Amino acid sequence: MKNILIAAAALMLAGCGTVPAITAEGELESPNGELQLTFGLIENGTPAYTLEYRGDKMVEVSRLGFDLTDGSSLKDGFSVTGVDFDAKDETWEPVWGEERQIRNNYKEMLATLEKESGEVMCIRFRLYDDGLAFRYEFPQKNKLRYFNIKEELTEFAMTGDHTAWWISGDYDTQEYNYTRSRLSGIRSHSEATRIENASATEFSATGVQTALQMKTDDGIYINIHEAAVVNYPTTNLLLDDKRMVFRTWLTPDAQGVKGRMQAPCVTPWRTVMVVDDARKVLASRLILNLNEPCAIEDVSWIHPVKYMGVWWEMIAGKSQWSYTWDVPSVQLGVTDYRALNTHGQHGANNDNVRRYIDFAAANGFDALLIEGWNEGWEDWFGCQQDYVFDFVPPYPDFDLPALNKYAHDKGIRLIMHHETSSSTLNYERHMEAAYQLMNQYGYDAVKSGYVGDIIPYGEYHYSQPIINHYLYAIKEAAKHHIMVNAHEAVRPTGLCRTWPNLIGNESAMGTEYRSRINPGHTCVLPFTRLQGGPMDYTPGIFEQDMAITAPGQQGKMRHTIGNQLGLYVTFYSPLQMAADLPDNYERFPDAFQFIKDVAVDWEKSLYLEAEPGEYIVTARKPRLETLNSGRLSGKSGAWEFVYKDGKPHDVWYVGGVCGEQAHEASVSLDFLDPGLRYEAILYADAPEADYETAPQAYVITRSEVGAGDTVNVHMARSGGFGLSLRSL
Ligand code: NOJ
Ligand code: CA
Repeated sequence: MKNILIAAAALMLAGCGTVPAITAEGELESPNGELQLTFGLIENGTPAYTLEYRGDKMVEVSRLGFDLTDGSSLKDGFSVTGVDFDAKDETWEPVWGEERQIRNNYKEMLATLEKESGEVMCIRFRLYDDGLAFRYEFPQKNKLRYFNIKEELTEFAMTGDHTAWWISGDYDTQEYNYTRSRLSGIRSHSEATRIENASATEFSATGVQTALQMKTDDGIYINIHEAAVVNYPTTNLLLDDKRMVFRTWLTPDAQGVKGRMQAPCVTPWRTVMVVDDARKVLASRLILNLNEPCAIEDVSWIHPVKYMGVWWEMIAGKSQWSYTWDVPSVQLGVTDYRALNTHGQHGANNDNVRRYIDFAAANGFDALLIEGWNEGWEDWFGCQQDYVFDFVPPYPDFDLPALNKYAHDKGIRLIMHHETSSSTLNYERHMEAAYQLMNQYGYDAVKSGYVGDIIPYGEYHYSQPIINHYLYAIKEAAKHHIMVNAHEAVRPTGLCRTWPNLIGNESAMGTEYRSRINPGHTCVLPFTRLQGGPMDYTPGIFEQDMAITAPGQQGKMRHTIGNQLGLYVTFYSPLQMAADLPDNYERFPDAFQFIKDVAVDWEKSLYLEAEPGEYIVTARKPRLETLNSGRLSGKSGAWEFVYKDGKPHDVWYVGGVCGEQAHEASVSLDFLDPGLRYEAILYADAPEADYETAPQAYVITRSEVGAGDTVNVHMARSGGFGLSLRSL
């Protein structure tokens, strides 16, 4: 074992005192040699690490360890009793994804630490070319058997006052706009960045959430995140803004415990991505690579979905989830809905659902989500009752068997909706019957939701028991061949690799926030929220003025139609919604064509231009395999476009979005096959387009292009574009 005393003691962090000296016990380099990790001990046998990129410190000496609830700790008094090295370079195929093959290439170091009193804690480090990952492991041969975490003390010591794109730390929600500020500005902005949410728990003015995207003054992009959060709480990051040192801040359970452990066990991975180009953040597969391989043997029932919904009309305030206003309060099994009158505004009624099915089928969609189909919506919101929904009895005007048959006859699957009102207890009680009902009538996907404070009372959306609940719901769904899209659940950490029936999550501010979404929000999400897995952002809102969509409502969304088209390529998700009302699409049929054509599962993805919060331009080539295999219905718009005239074409889609400032994109088409000519259909913001003054101004142009060409596209403020390319 190598013992190197790093002369760090003399170094000073910005305004903050000395950095402790680290006695290195092991060093590791990334496969390309650009990242160097040093692991060792500082004073009193405290484990610590540093990370360098091309010889420059990215993470200064940072402590590792835990305080336990019994007053003991795993933070010092350690000796290093072993350092073992390993490496891997493999390629694996995701069931669905941004590319058909993913390379998992890293070097590994496993450090074993022991206390004289017999506690054993290992730290497994992996260095990829684009970042560091490490986790704690507690082997079985150990004095530690059952132990409860009071605090995880993992530090990430930054070397400067970096620019950051962040949302406030919270135990319950990620539904916030991002703020861009220096790290030193987080404290003063924290209050102003928070907006009302049905369940939110802030813990500190300098708390922020993962994934945290930063940029140094030298143009290096650092992203701190976590991967594979299983049987452990989700972490936030707490910034000491005098020293610019983050540390993990785990979500406590109802009794204040931040992790109940039983050896042998492991923690989630802590990750620090370091790259010199924003596009490399989007191309990174670090989080997926750190998750376990697919645990589902037969994945033939898992498929990408392009869907519409009886949904936006409720969000917009045009119709209701509920059925009646006859009684002040309802109780399942007690209230006889058949004896009550409908208030006439129930969205999920037979006629309206049939109208949506007709529209979705006529336009080549795979599925239709219907919310407000089941009893219990009259007084669910904020009532904090354990037993609100049981996910089985439909309202009197929703004929579940007949509507499914009607949909299936037209090649449409209905998507089930389970709003749990955050009563995870009640959902677990009724889950089996609810999934069986889905199987009986041929639903193969469910959108679940966790609005409001969690029941059991005192738990948080991100605490360990509730993390376990979300995974339980996914695993049970897999047994029933059901795909899951969970809203308000914890932000994903790559578990979709292991459980690819988790085809979507919300877990960030999506279009339901309407006029409250800031321009540029969608240019941050791919750097942060989407690193952990796909988002059901629900794009495609063509009518920005809520008063037109739902008379009597107010507010204007701040994006152009071009921006909404660009999102279908910018945000990777195997589950993509065309979220607006059919009526609004009928007003813009030529722009709607892009949504009908665009694919949702990809062979290859290229990130052409990117800067967090400012602009993203992405090119993607559809995975023909998926279309051919029948895992898409075979009648979706994507299939029609790719296979038009009976033969497969070489097809690419390009999408761009930008933030508060307009952006001129320059799309060099050198990814096209040089031997072919292509038809290009560009759906772009018109010259006068602007999210405030002309959000619906777009132009569609057709041209013939080839591999040497460049397509220059003007993106308006909060604008964007979609570009379809098909070989002739
Ligand atoms: C919040 C979800 O994000 C939204 O999509 C859903 O319609 C409502 N909850 C009701 O469940
Ligand atoms: Ca939500």
